[in-house]
Amino acid sequence: MIIFYLIKTIIIILISYIKSKKLLELNASISQKMFSGYINQEISLTIPSNSAYITRNIIDFPSAFTNKVLLGIFTIFSEAIFVLGVFFIFINLNTLIGLSITVLTFFFIFIFSFFNLKNLNKFGKTLNDQYAKRVKVAREAIEGLKDINLLNKQDFYNEIYINENSKIIDLNAMFELRAVLPRYLLEFFTITLISLSMLILLYSGVSVSEIFPLISILAAGLLKLIPSISKILSFSQRIKSHENTIDTIYNEAKKFKKIDQNINALKSFENEIEIKNLSFRYPTTENILQNVNFTIKKNTMFGIKGVSGAGKSTCLNLISGFLNPTSGMILSDGHDIFDNIYNWQKLLGLIPQKVFISDDTLISNICLGVKKKDIDENLLRNIIKISKIDQFADINKGDFDKIVGERGSNLSAGQIQRIGLARTLYKKPKIIILDEVTSALDKITENEIFNDIKKLKSEITIIVVSHDEKIMSMCDDFYDLSK
Ligand SMILES: Nc1ncnc2c1ncn2[C@@H]1O[C@H](COP(=O)(O)OP(=O)(O)O)[C@@H](O)[C@H]1O
Ligand SMILES: [Mg+2]
Repeated sequence: MIIFYLIKTIIIILISYIKSKKLLELNASISQKMFSGYINQEISLTIPSNSAYITRNIIDFPSAFTNKVLLGIFTIFSEAIFVLGVFFIFINLNTLIGLSITVLTFFFIFIFSFFNLKNLNKFGKTLNDQYAKRVKVAREAIEGLKDINLLNKQDFYNEIYINENSKIIDLNAMFELRAVLPRYLLEFFTITLISLSMLILLYSGVSVSEIFPLISILAAGLLKLIPSISKILSFSQRIKSHENTIDTIYNEAKKFKKIDQNINALKSFENEIEIKNLSFRYPTTENILQNVNFTIKKNTMFGIKGVSGAGKSTCLNLISGFLNPTSGMILSDGHDIFDNIYNWQKLLGLIPQKVFISDDTLISNICLGVKKKDIDENLLRNIIKISKIDQFADINKGDFDKIVGERGSNLSAGQIQRIGLARTLYKKPKIIILDEVTSALDKITENEIFNDIKKLKSEITIIVVSHDEKIMSMCDDFYDLSK
């Protein structure tokens, strides 16, 4: 007997271990897919998502999906089998009573679900967004710590945070209430069912001596059903409130396009980039670019100019494939760049206005993602000269192994831009795109850098955005977006 019980316990523990392990593995794998989906994504800028929402989609949603939705479906199925089994026994014991109880219980589940599941989807979405908002507030406050302290706005941020938090508390309290509700209602319902069965039996002329054993079996069965049915109800509630989670995972995953099609397209750049009838609008704006046409020849320096807000950065993001044209095409040697955006981006070096800096050494920031032992020393020394990093750091004195601080807090804006330039050059791109990169530099350094960049023309095609006339005059050709 003891041995039998021991074996049973061990088996149950094993099964639940395997179940949790499988769920956790699935959770990790969905999270991994979301993560690589986002970082490989070419259209990321068209999705109006704050990074807090993306973090939520990568970290929280996969676990909500496995722990609430999948586990829920699993539980509902296993409990439903048990419930149906008990009903089957009831019907066998006494057809009339058994059928009545079955029908009434289904009716109860139906009515209860009808009222309780209403609006849950909307509440779930609100709660999901609320979690993301809280992360957003916390992150912004930490990032803006200096300004908040200087402006003495700590109370203001505290209040916002308290506010976001209390909304989460209210919503969760509502969910909890709805989750315990089925249990109490069910107890009440069961008592009613037992009394009802007793009445039916009395009226149908069954003798009292037969009624009692029957009723005690029914009561025992019904009491066993309470936890099962309430599990079914509360899990269906959880699933319903996570409809938005499922939708989001599904819709985001759909956007992660397969890039491995057209493996050989756009492997090289030989002649020209052609911008053809290009128009673009953000989801929230009118047309930013309207029917733009120009051609960039290989091994030239091409300028894009225009007033602030004319759409210069937008245009560069389109050429880099970070945005999808609303209409028109971007062709490289006659191939649409979206035939294989992955190969296209391998040819590009983009220096954004805001250079990303990792809290690491100077050298790892320049050779981002390259292992120390794989760094090409000659290339690096050459690049340091072109980007004028040697003016503030000496490679022979170990300056390159110093940590630059989070977001480059130990660096000036001009130094950060030079790192951006060096990083891009280290990639040995065929086309280099500069978006007002030297705007944080003084005129003399800016001119020196551009003179050096111009010398790269024999190997690299250069696309440059600037509102500096002098730099524009260095270009072989240009397009004016202000027109
Ligand atoms: N993600 C975005 N969503 C909506 N509008 C945007 C977005 N990015 C830029 N814009 C708008 O598009 C216009 C062009 O912006 P941008 O290309 O950055 O101009 P430029 O680089 O020439 O100064 C601006 O009016 C800007 O407000
Ligand atoms: Mg810009």
